[in-house]
Amino acid sequence: MTKDLFMTITSSLIEKRDKKEITQNEFKETYEKLRKERDKEELLEMEIEWKAERLKRLLKNSDLGSRFQTRTFKNFKTDKHNESIYEKCFQFAKHFEEIKTTGKGLLFIGNVGTGKTHLAAAIANYIIKEYILLVKFGSVTSLLNEIKNTYESSSEETELQVIKELSNVDLLVIDDLGKEKASEWSNSVIYTIINNRYEGYKPLIVTTNLKIEELEKKLGEAVVSRLIEMCDGIKMDGIDYRKVKLIKEV
Ligand SMILES: Nc1ncnc2c1ncn2[C@@H]1O[C@H](COP(=O)(O)OP(=O)(O)OP(=O)(O)O)[C@@H](O)[C@H]1O
Ligand SMILES: [Mg+2]
Repeated sequence: MTKDLFMTITSSLIEKRDKKEITQNEFKETYEKLRKERDKEELLEMEIEWKAERLKRLLKNSDLGSRFQTRTFKNFKTDKHNESIYEKCFQFAKHFEEIKTTGKGLLFIGNVGTGKTHLAAAIANYIIKEYILLVKFGSVTSLLNEIKNTYESSSEETELQVIKELSNVDLLVIDDLGKEKASEWSNSVIYTIINNRYEGYKPLIVTTNLKIEELEKKLGEAVVSRLIEMCDGIKMDGIDYRKVKLIKEV
């Protein structure tokens, strides 16, 4: 009930009472009922507003950005090669409330353009929108840069704060693991975040172009061993969707 409607009905009630068409008791009873109804709806409106506000903030903090906010399950096209993968990802997102304390995640491995990032972003978007949960999404390079930026004297955040956030969000998506320029520093940061999440049973989604042995070579066995324990592997070896798009456009 809108405020205006509430006022109109109340005015007409008062008029009826004044004209003695209804008794004072009848007036009070009806007015109380109306007021309760209005309060209930006001609370609901506040809740909707609060949720929308929180959703806006969660999407901004997730770092999905405008490109990846558009990658959803709805615009992921399925064929016989990726149908079961799509279903597995959708079930993961749908049951995330139960999964989120088990520390079980997904590791997408495969060639370029096969939809790894699209599906990872679709899961992230679904979880933020359906469950209003904290998600962080970033390429490994951008996550490392976020930490590097804290070394600037003007930075408002400390390295520890960023690492803590990446270790504790309900879901962390690390896109393109292995694409970073490896150094002792980058490997130690990646190990710390993955190990923190491993110890805290916090799910992780990783996408990569590298094979397991290549990841081991680049990041060390300790990281990869944890990833294997934490994540269900998903092999994506379909066609390069970018090329398909190009051919359609030409
Ligand atoms: N099945 C699909 N349906 C619709 N769009 C798709 C599908 N697969 C991929 N795409 C689109 O193709 C482009 C490339 O996909 P994506 O970025 O997910 O590939 P990727 O496997 O992560 O590649 P890379 O290894 O290069 O990071 C994106 O624009 C994505 O939205
Ligand atoms: Mg990708």
